[in-house]
Amino acid sequence: MAKLAHAQWSSRMTFVLAAAGSAVGLGNIWRFSYLVGDSGGAAFVLVYLACVALVGMPVLVAEWMIGRRGQKNPINSMVDLARQHGKSPAWALVGASGVLAAFLILSFYSVIGGWSLNYTLGSVIGTFSGQDADGVSELFGGMLGDPTTLLLWHSAFMLLVIGIVARGVTKGLESAARSMMPALIILLLILVGYGVASGHFGEALAFMFQPDWSALNGGVVLAAMGQAFFTLSLGMGIMMAYGSYLGEDVNLLSTARTVIILDTAIALLAGLAIFPIVFANGLSAGEGPGLIFVTLPLAFGNMTGGTLLGLMFFLLLTFAALTSAISLLEPVVEMMEERTSMPRVTATVVSGITVWLLGVAALLSFNVWADFTIVGLNIFDLLDTFTSKILLPLTGLGAIVFVAWCLKRESVEAELGLSATGVSVWNVIARFVAPIGVVAVFVAGLI
Ligand code: PHE
Repeated sequence: MAKLAHAQWSSRMTFVLAAAGSAVGLGNIWRFSYLVGDSGGAAFVLVYLACVALVGMPVLVAEWMIGRRGQKNPINSMVDLARQHGKSPAWALVGASGVLAAFLILSFYSVIGGWSLNYTLGSVIGTFSGQDADGVSELFGGMLGDPTTLLLWHSAFMLLVIGIVARGVTKGLESAARSMMPALIILLLILVGYGVASGHFGEALAFMFQPDWSALNGGVVLAAMGQAFFTLSLGMGIMMAYGSYLGEDVNLLSTARTVIILDTAIALLAGLAIFPIVFANGLSAGEGPGLIFVTLPLAFGNMTGGTLLGLMFFLLLTFAALTSAISLLEPVVEMMEERTSMPRVTATVVSGITVWLLGVAALLSFNVWADFTIVGLNIFDLLDTFTSKILLPLTGLGAIVFVAWCLKRESVEAELGLSATGVSVWNVIARFVAPIGVVAVFVAGLI
């Protein structure tokens, strides 16, 4: 992308699709629903929504602003802007830690992308038809316990990502996202309808929106904030890179609102689709990372037309995972290309293989290395926890603090197109509410 630094999105719509293509992925469906289930439901959901609005939105706007002002890749944009404003070029660390986060996240993301690919095939060959709750749990457990199967699908997913990024055909995928998003929403709505028919929709609704505040603790709040960053692809420099292609006429605030509403709606719909199935079948909401893989096949396996719908769903999920995974590999490849002057294909293959290797370690933590833990976490959980709960919020904090405290008021005014009062409101949020929120959640979560 760096080479195109002065190219621009053809329209605001293309930009929204690209940003949403990165944002909407496994995070909305797989990760959101399992975290809600693990963390006691509504209390988590409400804190998550607050984090999206009060921290996610300003950080998203800040990242786009840095990209659009800097017109370069995240690291160089930060260096240039810092110099222009008389600040230390050490701010580039924010960009660098974002690239590190992208690298680490992709390793375990690809493992789950592999599960989704596997379930796409499973839907085609009718593996799930007529299965009961025990049957789907056994299928899932069988996959987790079998390193070869996991390795195969993780490799297949990573190969797809490497192939697409190496050939630089990501633009074509962005236009495919145009039909993918509505299709995904329609399928989720069908599943929500199935949940209503199951008679357990009310329970799911209460689980997701009627908080039992006693479930809330520092750990849950930190998980909710981490999820807000993860799902919006924040704290990785990805949105900064996207911002560098953004035309001056695009309104950052309204565009951020559109992307956030879409992303959040998909996550909430996924929850409303999944929890009725959990309650109708006496499954455990706290099932963990396997939650969608033991609930959705149950629905597809037992509804009319379920084979086709299941196939479509897992295909779309895989596609959404792919567009996000591509956006994760891009910054890593770009940095390698620039720092080592490797050609794009070599840079992609080298970084792809490194990510793949780390992913292998992550998938082994479901079976042969299950007992190997560091600070009580297996490798998969360690990668997930370290990135979403520490790296992403810290990088995002760096971005918002930089924009709020280092950029000149004129720059902010020009970027946001707000009235004087509007800029003052923005300043309060960007200077105090968002950063203090991040720090407070950290303190609460880590003690
Ligand atoms: N936001 C993506 C999702 O929710 C994951 C992702 C994270 C993509 C970070 C890019 C960067 O699935």
